[in-house]
Amino acid sequence: MSVTNESNRFNGQVALVTGGTAGIGEAASLAYAKEGAKVVLVGRDIQRGNNVVSKIQNNGGTADFIKADVSRADQVKQLIEFTVQKYGRLDVAFNNAGVTGVGGPIHQYPEDEWMRTIDINLKGVWLCMKYQIQQMLKQKPLESSDTQGVIVNMASIAGHVASASPDYCASKHGVIGLTKSAALNYAPKGIRVNAVSPASIHTPMFDRFAAETPDQVKVWRDSHPIGRIGQPSEVAEAVLWLSSSKTGFITGTSLLIDGGWTAQ
Ligand SMILES: NC(=O)c1ccc[n+]([C@@H]2O[C@H](COP(=O)([O-])OP(=O)(O)OC[C@H]3O[C@@H](n4cnc5c(N)ncnc54)[C@H](OP(=O)(O)O)[C@@H]3O)[C@@H](O)[C@H]2O)c1
Repeated sequence: MSVTNESNRFNGQVALVTGGTAGIGEAASLAYAKEGAKVVLVGRDIQRGNNVVSKIQNNGGTADFIKADVSRADQVKQLIEFTVQKYGRLDVAFNNAGVTGVGGPIHQYPEDEWMRTIDINLKGVWLCMKYQIQQMLKQKPLESSDTQGVIVNMASIAGHVASASPDYCASKHGVIGLTKSAALNYAPKGIRVNAVSPASIHTPMFDRFAAETPDQVKVWRDSHPIGRIGQPSEVAEAVLWLSSSKTGFITGTSLLIDGGWTAQ
């Protein structure tokens, strides 16, 4: 899960990563830290969170783990308060935490499953942005930057095209709409907001899917024109790029990272 770029684009910056305890969020946490950011990573699993913090510290980086459920307003508010009390500001946020739906037809879909996915994947992103933006509006831009803050939200190819899981598909379409709305509202205030939309990426989430439907793995892999699924570090590269000052004119977009999947 290493990122190849050895520069220090985020020196002196504070980065928050939700879902930083595994998969894509872990890769992004490691990558931000490697490029100089102080990283606050968020999830519910304390052991995995501490494990990622240790990896960062062993590489000479700075990181904290905060146990929080992104669907809970009180916990999201507290984690932003922790970040600001400890580091004084919040420069970059990657709102990545998410879950898959159980899948199935709408007319039989359980309401509690629907609510769980929407609460984490969509309401969670909104809650995180709500408290992140409150802080970003208050702070002075760093000398090295002309932005108040940068946000990258995790969507999916399922935010661009249909997928069989109605709650997941709706939540990811929602994330893209929310991203555009936030970009529009906060562009004049110096806050950029974008989304990333990966296809299949080799993470614990993908491994769970593979364990449940082993006969589908080859089909799914071959469905990507590039002939393989992606790696978490490949998403992290794109997230860091969108978070960096190199992309100062990009806001309100969703960047597909899909090996050509949606081009078919
Ligand atoms: N893997 C793919 O193929 C793929 C493709 C497109 C989009 N995505 C999206 O990418 C994101 C990350 O996926 P992944 O594949 O890296 O999944 P993963 O390996 O299952 O990791 C999910 C992360 O989200 C965290 N999380 C889940 N629910 C949470 C909650 N309520 N509050 C706080 N943290 C929570 C988990 O932490 P804890 O378990 O510690 O709570 C974990 O760190 C998701 O939004 C997913 O929809 C993934």
